[in-house]
Amino acid sequence: MIDLFPIAGRILRSFDPETAHTLTVLSLATGFGPVDRELDDPILKTRVWGLDFANPVGLAAGFDKNAEVVDPMLRMGFGFVEAGSVTPRPQPGNPKPRLFRLTGQGAVINRMGFNNGGLEQFARRFEDRRGNPDRAPGIAGANLGKNKDTAEAADDYVLGVRRLAPFADYLVVNVSSPNTPGLRALQGREPLRTLLGRVLDARAACNLAKAPPLLLKIAPDLTDEDKADIAAVALDSGIDGLVVSNTTIARPDSIPERFRGEAGGLSGKPLFGPSTQVLREMYGLTGGKLPIVGVGGIASGDDAYAKIRAGASLVQLYSALVYGGPALVRSIKRDLAARLKADGFTSVADAVGTGAVGTELTKR
Ligand SMILES: Cc1cc2nc3c(=O)[nH]c(=O)nc-3n(C[C@H](O)[C@H](O)[C@H](O)COP(=O)(O)O)c2cc1C
Repeated sequence: MIDLFPIAGRILRSFDPETAHTLTVLSLATGFGPVDRELDDPILKTRVWGLDFANPVGLAAGFDKNAEVVDPMLRMGFGFVEAGSVTPRPQPGNPKPRLFRLTGQGAVINRMGFNNGGLEQFARRFEDRRGNPDRAPGIAGANLGKNKDTAEAADDYVLGVRRLAPFADYLVVNVSSPNTPGLRALQGREPLRTLLGRVLDARAACNLAKAPPLLLKIAPDLTDEDKADIAAVALDSGIDGLVVSNTTIARPDSIPERFRGEAGGLSGKPLFGPSTQVLREMYGLTGGKLPIVGVGGIASGDDAYAKIRAGASLVQLYSALVYGGPALVRSIKRDLAARLKADGFTSVADAVGTGAVGTELTKR
């Protein structure tokens, strides 16, 4: 893979962040994406929920909201791609500007507000991909959201499950974006129990020979009681896993004054510590019984390794791509494989949760 990012990235960063993102997706969708031709180290191969991942490094939700570039991102070297969040009806999202680069901090603030082209178009892309023998190998998940003006949130998630369960390799119920009013309240014990019951019923009603695993994506901004409740309801309900975590509404001291007042979710390096802490806690609270996708601030192989040792079976990233470009995917995979071997592990699964309790992970 020739790394054009030092040039292309500089050009892209001369645009405002949202235009840069639109141009990136457009160029990927029209075939200008870099391809990682290096075979993944076999130590990275991992099986979760009966799905085979060539490597455990995934693209987090929000990059490909409309499922336009699943294959190009898999070809870039990701083991899996999570498209969405998708809502049943198309919606424009919040007024612009709504996306901010915090270059010095390796961070991003966004208040996009689930801008997307709606479920029908999204599902058709998943359906077409399934029928395409030339699709890129790899796992494609769909992340479900709700429309801003839907009163009964569970109705929207049920629509998403019904339409996508036959075509997505896994599904994520996202109740943790900070940019949809009331959304995060769905993480409370009773609302969550009701919601998960309804989406699991919807999945069962699809009568599929192989139903996709259903995961819950949570916020990093939770009280101890919230976390205990989520763990109990998740285990009780019979969902298949967790994604930990979404962006944070916190503004650590490292965030410059001019960005502190921007509403929205903070992601990237400042999120690494808090999201890894929540991951470690959720792994403990669920007794390692639910596979967890660790996401938040991963920018290196060491970061990915720390998430795995804290309890992640798989990892994802988004913000670091803005600063590191596509070559980062390869370097994370290489460094992760090296770290696993150096510590005597023979697989990713072997390392999951081995640094979980009471261990101080990478401090930033
Ligand atoms: C611009 C932007 C848009 C996002 N949109 C979504 C989304 O639609 N659904 C979702 O579940 N997460 C969304 N996220 C959150 C990411 O999936 C991820 O959880 C978070 O950014 C932390 O990972 P990172 O530090 O590697 O970026 C978005 C993040 C960013 C930066």
